[in-house]
Amino acid sequence: MTTGQWAGDGTDETLPAPGDLQSRARAVMDAHWQAEGFTVPSTAVYPHQWLWDSCFHAVIWAGLGEPDRALLELETLFAHQADDGFVPHMTYWRDPQRHAGFWGRPLVSGITQPPMYGHALAELARRGHRPPGELVERARAGLHHLLDRPRLDLPPPVGELVPVVHPWETGCDNSPRWDSWCPGGFALDRWYERKGDLVASIEYDRSTGSPRVNPAFAVCPAGFNALVAFNAAELLELVDDQRLAMFLDRAKAGISALWDDDLGCAVDASLPWRESSEVRTVDALLELLVHDHPGSRITSHLFAQLRHPGCFGGPCGPAGVHRQEAAFDPRAYWRGGAWPQLAYLFWFAARRLGRRAAARWFAAACIRGAYLSGFAEYWDPDTGAPGGAVPQSWAALAALMAGEDDEDVPAAGAER
Ligand code: GLC
Repeated sequence: MTTGQWAGDGTDETLPAPGDLQSRARAVMDAHWQAEGFTVPSTAVYPHQWLWDSCFHAVIWAGLGEPDRALLELETLFAHQADDGFVPHMTYWRDPQRHAGFWGRPLVSGITQPPMYGHALAELARRGHRPPGELVERARAGLHHLLDRPRLDLPPPVGELVPVVHPWETGCDNSPRWDSWCPGGFALDRWYERKGDLVASIEYDRSTGSPRVNPAFAVCPAGFNALVAFNAAELLELVDDQRLAMFLDRAKAGISALWDDDLGCAVDASLPWRESSEVRTVDALLELLVHDHPGSRITSHLFAQLRHPGCFGGPCGPAGVHRQEAAFDPRAYWRGGAWPQLAYLFWFAARRLGRRAAARWFAAACIRGAYLSGFAEYWDPDTGAPGGAVPQSWAALAALMAGEDDEDVPAAGAER
């Protein structure tokens, strides 16, 4: 990475001095690197391997000029992929018995997470490091496995979206979108217990042992499906695959069928319908990653909401929950804080669509948040006060955003 335009020049105290961000990012990543060949999200709070974290780490390593570590990170991620393609969301490398009773298996968990490996592999290729065919095949099998999941009994195109079997699979486990599944309403202790119960109700495939459905949690989240579709699109940059191409089209149609004019974003499909599926959370805006028309009304509307201080916008990045929602709490885990991996994805979407001003906004806000929070897991979108683990590896995405300038980004027709 080079020191890019976002390094502070000393006139804005909320931005880091030139070089600081890069050296801090490298120090955090180095300190979190494990001999097995992956990066822990945090040594204190998250000392194992997590699926979507590892994909973001691979992107960071590639940006730091370490493609070998990026590839190793993805190899370890797929090391325990099941024969049917299932990729576990966690691998307990150094403590294989940990939670073995809970998951009913040692070493790995029994659910998955957003399949960001399509993006990680495409990003490596864009940086001139074409990934080995074996890794591409594993990623393809991982995505196909998700497409193999039984669908909810809903008419197409919504019925073609991929269901998750547990809130943990979305990566956003305490999101207010799941509040209707917490009897008595959301409360930290009740929801903690309920999440455990929701693992017990997952049904696994008898022959492969991989998760199939969860009758107690039947949901097709708009955000999760946007990520599956985006990763399919990214992998299609590396390999031809009819099934992924078809899913990409159907998922776009499915997500747009979930669009709600009054809310200004997509709702989630759930069976039976649950009210909290309509809470405006920022992950519901991830469909921007697969939008095709930079100047379309919906694209412009979503970018405007992300940046507007009355909606999601904040000086340290988009809040996780719309500010007008009753559940909005800027300090609480998944209930309003700003998350660096999501800011990075919106930045990526903005660049892809040629929306330069938006891309610059996401970069500056995420860099400010990472810097003020000490590279936290997430932070207050207004003040940058840290939330969760500090430091956390994926905050290093901010350094990657700092290192890129936007000269190669085509300006969109409808740029504002
Ligand atoms: C938390 C987050 C999840 C992340 C994990 C490791 O559980 O909710 O998205 O993967 O921490 O960072």
